[in-house]
This record gives sequence, C-alpha cells and structure tokens, in this order.
Amino acid sequence: MVTVIFPAAGKGSRMQAGMNKVFMPLGGVPILIRTLLQYSSCSEIDQMVVVVAAAEVDFVKSVLSKVQGLKPYNVVAGGSERQYSVLNGIKSVNGSDDDIILVHDAARPLISHETITAVIDGAKKYGGVIAAVAAKNTIKVCDNEGVVKETPDRSTLWEIQTPQGFTRKILLEANDRAQAEGFLGTDDASLVERIGHPVHIVKSDYRNIKITTPEDIIVGEAFIKSQEQ
Ligand code: CTP
Ligand code: MG
Repeated sequence: MVTVIFPAAGKGSRMQAGMNKVFMPLGGVPILIRTLLQYSSCSEIDQMVVVVAAAEVDFVKSVLSKVQGLKPYNVVAGGSERQYSVLNGIKSVNGSDDDIILVHDAARPLISHETITAVIDGAKKYGGVIAAVAAKNTIKVCDNEGVVKETPDRSTLWEIQTPQGFTRKILLEANDRAQAEGFLGTDDASLVERIGHPVHIVKSDYRNIKITTPEDIIVGEAFIKSQEQ
C-alpha cells in the first residue's frame, strides 16, 4: 500500500497573495489540484491524504468532489507548523509497518512520475529516501551578524525537495519521538535522521520547484508551457 500525504495547510505568506497559495491557478489549474492529478495518474499510488487548515476542510472537500480522475483521498485538518500538519495526516493512515508513506508538498505541482516512482522504490529498499538535486550555488554558513563562518564543499551539498518516502513504521517512530522530545524540523527526513535511521537521496530534477514566492509562478508556468509543446 502506498499512501501520499499532501501538506497544504500553510498560509502562503511569502507569496503575498492574500490567500493560501495552493488554491492559486498555475497554467489555469489550481496548484493543489495539479499536484493531486499528477499523483493520481501514477499507477503505484493507492491513496492520498490532503491536509488543509481546519477552516478550509469543507471548501476543499467540495472542490475536490467535482474533480474527475483522483485516486481515493481523504481531507484532514492540519496544524500550525508543517510538521504538525504531516503528523495529523500520518495519524489518519492505517496500515502495516512496511506500507510506504510519501510526504509531498502540495506546493510542488511539477513533480515528475520518474521521481515519484524512484522515491517509492527507494523507500521500499532503504526505509527512508528524499528527492534531491545537486546545489547549483555556493552555500555559506553565516552567523547572526552576517559574517561568513564556513563554505561547505559544494559537491557535498544537495537541495532537498519532496516527495520524501518512508516505511510507515519508521515515519511513525520518527514523528512520535519528535513530538515527545519537542523537536521541530524543516522537513520530514530530519525527524528520521535524528532517530539514527539512514536517509538516502534520490536524484530528482530542477523543475520540481516549490511554488513559494511570486516569481515561482512565472517559472512554473514557463515549465508547463514547455511541456505542452
Ligand atoms: N504547510 C502545512 N501546514 C503548515 C505550514 C505549511 O501543511 N502549518 C504546507 C504548505 O501548504 C505547503 C508545504 O507545507 O504545501 C510547504 O510549505 P511552504 O512552502 O512553507 O508553504 P506555506 O507555509 O504556505 O508558505 P509560507 O511559509 O510562505 O507562509
Ligand atoms: Mg511555510
């Protein structure tokens, strides 16, 4: 059984659109629906959990009920941080220890079938994998005054995307431990890393951007146009 959890309960504050950015259209289709349709057309996916703000649950249920071609899905309420939203999604998924759970940002509608499949295969093999691309820029570590402290070797640096895929057992254990110990991470794998389980990267592609700021809409629409040609 392969389940995908889609955190979509953010506010989209960096987009400055006055609404949750996942409801904004990208190439004429709302970002959330684009993401769900892309996963729904992937034969390996069995079911989906869409996590939205409590106040948006009824609206999203009503919108999705009119969309054709979605894999079986559930809509659940999220939390104040992405990690809490994902946790609510995980809690809603029953199954066995070796089922695969992917976590995918609803705000990444340009995900390819190749990366989805590679993450599922990797999660089955290793228990924990994350989609990644090689860092293109030099990255510096700075202190609070903006003084550079370190320049890590770029060849060791990877920009992490979603999907991040795990066995249900590992993801549950990692989230239980993070909750008990009050740890808040910026991605799902960081919770798994801290319980000592190795996380492998799966090479993704540079099109799988997270729609975050207004210029990402321009870039995302250009990618969609180039795929239509
Ligand atoms: N997300 C979530 N619950 C939260 C915060 C974020 O489910 N409490 C989701 C977002 O909806 C998004 C994904 O996590 O699909 C990645 O987060 P991000 O890009 O940071 O989206 P937002 O938090 O909405 O944007 P911002 O940080 O600019 O407010
Ligand atoms: Mg955010």
